[in-house]
Amino acid sequence: MQATAAATSNIALVKYWGKRDVALNLPATGSISVTLDRLTSRTTVRFDAALDGDVFRFDGEAAPAMGRRVSGFLDLVRGLADTDLCARVETSNDFPTGAGLASSASGFAALALACDEALGMNLSSDQLSALARRGSGSAARSLIGGFAEMRPGVAADGRDAYAVELAPPTHVAMQVLVAITTTAGKSVGSTEGMRRTEETSPFYAPWLDATRADLDCMRAAITDADLERIGELAESNALRMHAVMLGARPPLLYWTAATVRVMRAVQAMRGEGLAAWFTIDAGPQVKVLCAPSEAEDIEARLRGLEGVHDVVAAAPGEGPRVLETRP
Ligand code: DP6
Repeated sequence: MQATAAATSNIALVKYWGKRDVALNLPATGSISVTLDRLTSRTTVRFDAALDGDVFRFDGEAAPAMGRRVSGFLDLVRGLADTDLCARVETSNDFPTGAGLASSASGFAALALACDEALGMNLSSDQLSALARRGSGSAARSLIGGFAEMRPGVAADGRDAYAVELAPPTHVAMQVLVAITTTAGKSVGSTEGMRRTEETSPFYAPWLDATRADLDCMRAAITDADLERIGELAESNALRMHAVMLGARPPLLYWTAATVRVMRAVQAMRGEGLAAWFTIDAGPQVKVLCAPSEAEDIEARLRGLEGVHDVVAAAPGEGPRVLETRP
């Protein structure tokens, strides 16, 4: 009845920004990501007949807003497992939450796996990914190790909207350097940001078309393990996502001065012949994709930039894992 699971963040190489169904959290397009070996969420779930409500603790403290989202997710799990037991959920991250490091991705992936294990549901990988998607769209991809593609599906009930493996972590020799430019929470969350973009950005339809085309190119680049094409496409797709965000009203501007400084620095490094490309999610951090042989040099340069507080060096990683089960 109790299980602990760990899952890591993933970085989208072709972004998910828009939904075809809000209630079921179905993405408007597919997306492609790489799951990292760092930026871990660790979650323990205990279903307990003695509880008369769900209890949620984040880093040992009550977190009411997150707790409501977790309770909504537990309702789905209870429906699937046909139980009415309440649960105690304790989670912790080894990185700052809510600042564009996709804590919801690792968090809901770890929670989905821990629930499956605690209740003995024996869900398949596809089912687990689809379940995690209900918590957060990007979490569906953190259920898969290495390079993952989220399928948007066509079914109205979302049963075919889950992530699948494109390639194992060792398939492409690359590193991801996460340049942390602030540890403050983001201003507009992804769910609200997507809604605003869908409703007000005149670039939304072209963004979806461009993303569908990028998916085909990225899939081929990953198959060929071609870091240069992966990097170029990832950087361009990220900038297009920020363009559609900027087209919203009020506009979604997630960048700080330090964000732009890192972007410029990465472009300058490329000018010097280094293999480095950036991508940015719904926050100010910049993730730099680079060749492992140049990672140390690039990390040192990033650390030297004004406004860069820290750099987390990550590599493609395995999927989530169960750490412990207890009766
Ligand atoms: C910019 O998965 O956080 O990181 O499904 O509403 O929880 P919800 O959104 P979320 O959005 C992630 C957006 C992104 C791009 C990506 O990871 O694909």
